[in-house]
Amino acid sequence: MTTEITTPKQLDGEGMTEAALRPQRMSEFVGQKKVKESLGIYIEAALQRGEPLDHTLFYGPPGLGKTTLALLVARELGVEIQTTSGPALEKPGDLVSSLTNLKEGDVLFIDEIHRLRPVIEEFLYPGMEDFRIEIRLGEGPKAQTISMKLERFTLIGATTRFGLLTPPMRARFGVVERLGYYPASELKVIVERSAAILGVPIDDDGSEEIARRSRGTPRIANRLLRRVRDYAEVKGDGRVTLPIAEAALQMLDVDEYGLEQMDARMLRLLIEDFAGGPVGLQSLAVALGEEADTLEEVYEPYLIQNGLLQRTARGRVATAKAYRRFGYDIPPDAAEGQGQLFSDG
Ligand SMILES: Nc1ncnc2c1ncn2[C@@H]1O[C@H](COP(=O)(O)OP(=O)(O)OP(=O)(O)O)[C@@H](O)[C@H]1O
Ligand SMILES: [Mg+2]
Repeated sequence: MTTEITTPKQLDGEGMTEAALRPQRMSEFVGQKKVKESLGIYIEAALQRGEPLDHTLFYGPPGLGKTTLALLVARELGVEIQTTSGPALEKPGDLVSSLTNLKEGDVLFIDEIHRLRPVIEEFLYPGMEDFRIEIRLGEGPKAQTISMKLERFTLIGATTRFGLLTPPMRARFGVVERLGYYPASELKVIVERSAAILGVPIDDDGSEEIARRSRGTPRIANRLLRRVRDYAEVKGDGRVTLPIAEAALQMLDVDEYGLEQMDARMLRLLIEDFAGGPVGLQSLAVALGEEADTLEEVYEPYLIQNGLLQRTARGRVATAKAYRRFGYDIPPDAAEGQGQLFSDG
């Protein structure tokens, strides 16, 4: 029943298209070759033994396919999936019906698992380990605890913040897979696939341009495709070509390396107002009027990966590459960033 590949938070407008673009089969899931290979083996082994898959954790920056993979794993296993998320769970009671409804081998998917409250984590541990939960009935001295058996299930967790997961929680996952940014060549395949689903005519240069500027992220590739399509329909003949893609992306303030306004503001601020850093995340967040969490989860990983920003014990530092990127003179002590922004397409 719930193996259908949609999640409740995606039933409005753009979300509807996002669901339509979501791969329905593992074979449609582009890239992440290593992750797919390992998962394929674990799934096959579990099926052969007739056992549930080990608890599995997916982590990596937003929009890289964690939720999609969880849904696909359940589908490949031929089991049902119950979906919830860390912040949605207030008390252990909120999980009881999900857990007791699970049949042997089913998947419980917990998104944003780093945001589980400690009481819920404690409650989940015996569930994960011994397939047994302790339910407290009543309060105070008369409270009773009853123990309930669960069917053997698979917990799939997803998180953008591996570092915030508690060590005991981390230790309970038998399979841990990291999703990394996609190279432009794979994003191009995703853009072409999505264009075909949406019925958007697109040429080779058009899809390549969108892919190149999507910060290594399928969700962004799909979003840019939809915006470029709007532009093509209004300003052109509906076909997505290189000039159309360039003009549309310029209008969207996405630069040729996929940096968005916030990335640029963050780096310029670091360079201009903080002499390149180091500066604490909180100070940056205040100066930019953005949540520290968002900077850390959404913007920084890409900048760090591409060698424009460094995270040091004393704070964030702009690299020589960042100075060069925005045309500033490079101070002699600037760190040379590592990264692939200028090499991978
Ligand atoms: N490998 C892929 N191939 C094709 N499309 C993909 C792939 N990965 C992700 N997508 C597309 O990108 C969208 C976002 O993916 P998904 O929701 O799974 O990301 P996520 O990692 O769960 O993000 P978040 O951390 O924000 O929850 C999906 O709707 C899907 O269409
Ligand atoms: Mg998700």
